[in-house]
Amino acid sequence: MTQDEKRLYKPEEAIFHNDGREERLLEFIRSHPDYDQMHGDPKLILAAIDEYGHKCAFLMNVGSEKGKIVAEKLIPELKPDFMVELGGYLGYSTLLFGSALKTTGGRRYLSLEASPKFAAISRALVQLAGLDDIVEVRVGPCRESLRKLRQTYPTGVVDVLFIDHAKLEYVNDLKLCEELNLVGPGTTVIADNVISPGVPDYCEYVRTPTSHKIEKVQNEKLSFLNEDSRDRSFGNPYLVYETRLIDSFQPTGEKVGFALVSSKAILY
Ligand SMILES: C[S@@+](CC[C@H](N)C(=O)[O-])C[C@H]1O[C@@H](n2cnc3c(N)ncnc32)[C@H](O)[C@@H]1O
Repeated sequence: MTQDEKRLYKPEEAIFHNDGREERLLEFIRSHPDYDQMHGDPKLILAAIDEYGHKCAFLMNVGSEKGKIVAEKLIPELKPDFMVELGGYLGYSTLLFGSALKTTGGRRYLSLEASPKFAAISRALVQLAGLDDIVEVRVGPCRESLRKLRQTYPTGVVDVLFIDHAKLEYVNDLKLCEELNLVGPGTTVIADNVISPGVPDYCEYVRTPTSHKIEKVQNEKLSFLNEDSRDRSFGNPYLVYETRLIDSFQPTGEKVGFALVSSKAILY
């Protein structure tokens, strides 16, 4: 166990979000003894969020252990200019990764969050941290935001995509990013919790070779014709990923074998 026991989050309950705990977090931060020093200091804000998770209620943040791998290892290694996250919640990963991107010379961090309530809290924290010059929080289902992004950012791929929203949507939304050319050769995709709690269809997809993908896409398109009208994406079968699994801990201290998958897209 590498995590400081004193900072472990409370255990996850049956209902673990959207029950008032998010609004209480903002009140906790605004009445915190360190509040005045938090202006322009993402680290102090992150420490206060962790303190709330430890003392008051579980929060579904990426947490300091997994967060450290991305902020202190992957971002300095990759030096992304433009990073996008799917699922920003209250802004924990946004502050941690946005400030790492800024430190390493990046120019833009885009956080996509479906809930207007969570996005409003995240925006307030981004502003408090003084990161609003490079971090933007966009509210709405990420598929809509991704399509709009492609219109306003007509060329170029995203350097790093962090996927941490709804497990059932990981693959379909990654495929949309591939179709929109937001994920292309050179993009690194980092996905949280893929082995535990687990997103097996995502793991299978990023490991499938192009020849199998082409065949699968053809079959999927055929069966899709007879299916419902779900907003389905088929991806770019010519993109393959070099994939590595990374062990870590949940913010509650639970060891999660292979919590993150980082995959570098290359053209077949
Ligand atoms: C696990 S939390 C994200 C935690 C955040 N990355 C962090 O570490 O602080 C998942 C978030 O994804 C959001 N979400 C779920 N489906 C979404 C979608 N289709 N588009 C955008 N956000 C979505 C949820 O509202 C929730 O806030």
